Amino acid sequence: MNKSIHILFIGAGRMAEAIFSGILQKEKNFAITVANQKDAERLTYLKEQYQIEVTSDWSKSVETSDIILLACPPSAHEKVLATLNPLIKPNQLVITVAAGIGPSYLEKALPAKTSVAWLMPNTAADVGRSMSIYALGNYMTGEQTELFTKIVGAIGPAEQVTEQQVHDLTAITGSAPAFLYYFVEALEAAALSYGITKEQARKLVLEMVIGSAAMLDKHRDPAKLREQVTSPGGATAAGIATLDEQHFFSLLESAVTATNNRAKEQGKA
Ligand SMILES: NC(=O)c1ccc[n+]([C@@H]2O[C@H](COP(=O)([O-])OP(=O)(O)OC[C@H]3O[C@@H](n4cnc5c(N)ncnc54)[C@H](OP(=O)(O)O)[C@@H]3O)[C@@H](O)[C@H]2O)c1
Repeated sequence: MNKSIHILFIGAGRMAEAIFSGILQKEKNFAITVANQKDAERLTYLKEQYQIEVTSDWSKSVETSDIILLACPPSAHEKVLATLNPLIKPNQLVITVAAGIGPSYLEKALPAKTSVAWLMPNTAADVGRSMSIYALGNYMTGEQTELFTKIVGAIGPAEQVTEQQVHDLTAITGSAPAFLYYFVEALEAAALSYGITKEQARKLVLEMVIGSAAMLDKHRDPAKLREQVTSPGGATAAGIATLDEQHFFSLLESAVTATNNRAKEQGKA
């Protein structure tokens, strides 16, 4: 492969595939090697689908890599980082996408002054629309930051925040998609109670949500869009008033807090 930047993915699951397929579509000069530990069939499948190299022994590919991207489970990190530690060179960048593994953890586990970054994408990386948040370690060079931005940009929009904010806001960018899908399920159930088929209920609700998301994408201001649909004293206003009576805002706030509390418990465990 005659390409200038080599990225080694440790982990070959859904998130790794979303990221490297985005990179391959958008960037020309990245060479990609993808590794896992057990699932040989998965590597064969990926090699057939994409212009990548694959390996079941990633340690041999570290030396030639500019960037090592950890896309394995959080629980695998301790062992992977211990193996990586003696292999890492000063000019290499280590990125993780694992929940709960921030730059300070990576910097402690790797040689002093290693360049590290923490990227927290969401499942929409699959369709190139992940709203990702990220925090950078203390030793990244300008060139590494530029490369990191290209990698992140390959799966959607992104925002740099502090390490603590990645912990706190993963509830919004990572978990709240599940809240939204749950909202869709609830509306589907409500639609079904009016005597239409499941397929009709699904079409009505999904297309309404997709159309509303497109309006948000175009106009960017949810309150204004809501007001356009809500004539004072009208039918929609009665629906919104019911949501308010049932404390819609504080309900969502509580869901975010509960998500963060559980993430903290899991982090300690
Ligand atoms: N999916 C999401 O929406 C999402 C969002 C944000 C962050 N993340 C993070 O992304 C990471 C990967 O998630 P995923 O959804 O892609 O998981 P996944 O589909 O389960 O993939 C995990 C991959 O890691 C490999 N692996 C496990 N232990 C390994 C080891 N010791 N050495 C090398 N490879 C190893 C697995 O293959 P083998 O078992 O064959 O080794 C598998 O290819 C996780 O840390 C997760 O927290 C995921």
